[in-house]
Amino acid sequence: MNNHDKTLVKVENLKVHFPVKGGLPFTKKKFVKAVDGVSIEIHAGETFGLVGESGCGKSTLGNAILGMQKPTEGKIYFKDQDLNALPRKEFKDLRRGMQMIFQDPFSSLNPRFDVYHIIAEPMEIRGGMTDEEIRARVSELLHLVGLSDDDMPRYPSDFSGGQRQRIGIARAIALNPEFLVCDEPVSALDVSVHAQILNLLMDLQKELGITYLFISHNLAVVKDICSHVAVMYLGSMMETGETQKIFKRPMHPYTRSLLSAVLTVDVDNAPQRIILEGDIPSPINTPPGCPFSTRCPYAKEECKKSKPELTELEPGHFVACHFPMMD
Ligand SMILES: Nc1ncnc2c1ncn2[C@@H]1O[C@H](COP(=O)(O)OP(=O)(O)O)[C@@H](O)[C@H]1O
Ligand SMILES: [Mg+2]
Repeated sequence: MNNHDKTLVKVENLKVHFPVKGGLPFTKKKFVKAVDGVSIEIHAGETFGLVGESGCGKSTLGNAILGMQKPTEGKIYFKDQDLNALPRKEFKDLRRGMQMIFQDPFSSLNPRFDVYHIIAEPMEIRGGMTDEEIRARVSELLHLVGLSDDDMPRYPSDFSGGQRQRIGIARAIALNPEFLVCDEPVSALDVSVHAQILNLLMDLQKELGITYLFISHNLAVVKDICSHVAVMYLGSMMETGETQKIFKRPMHPYTRSLLSAVLTVDVDNAPQRIILEGDIPSPINTPPGCPFSTRCPYAKEECKKSKPELTELEPGHFVACHFPMMD
């Protein structure tokens, strides 16, 4: 099965701006530009990595794709259907094909439900299955995620973080989704179980053909599992393309700084390290020009004046920088 060239999810010039409460009357209204003009295309069967520091808009983008956050501007297509233009009923049907795995398996599972009910609930809500069919499906799902029938009557509090994430994954795939948003699925877990959960996700993808949007603040995590990556900063896309190309020759100073922070030994001819100072600035009324210009060690006058367009600098490799690092 190879439908990797087929686009499953398409995001066009998406903007999600949140109004800031308060402020003086008669002054200009302020907005947090959580996502500020992002376009991505996710192909069927692939894992698409979305990375950037905390607060850069990753979750907002993921939530908007799932229809949980209304766009201020722009379009989102799932299987060529404009999500925000669909009538309610059609939206609900289509939405079942898209699910989410949450960052925190401690708060995302209902503590009063046993494992059986946590996993059965989406099927019960949808309807159309007998109790026997649901029980058989829960059993099948538990085995798929490395748990067993014995776990059905147990409660979330009986499990470790990694096991809880397995339960969350079983619930997320209960209705056979084609697309899963994995929003930092290992960030809240002990480092020792990261690899197990990532391997489980990769095995499920192989077995079930699920497409993933994999969100992480850590570039190193996406390197091995994603075919494409997108690097965000303050709501904007800095660099995106085929994972291999971006890791081989990152051209945006921001991507290089992220790589400098995570990769020390396993890159031959590692490019010059860039250590960023200061914190990510507030996303409220970001200045014109490149969003990264206030922290970029190479910023020039032009960078503070005009925002660079995302440009294809080699096939399958796009960079938004006035002075990309081509060395
Ligand atoms: N519902 C909301 N109302 C107002 N601001 C929000 C809301 N959700 C997110 N934000 C702001 O939008 C920005 C991006 O947040 P988020 O998408 O959660 O980033 P990330 O997932 O990359 O850490 C942050 O500045 C955050 O405070
Ligand atoms: Mg987030």
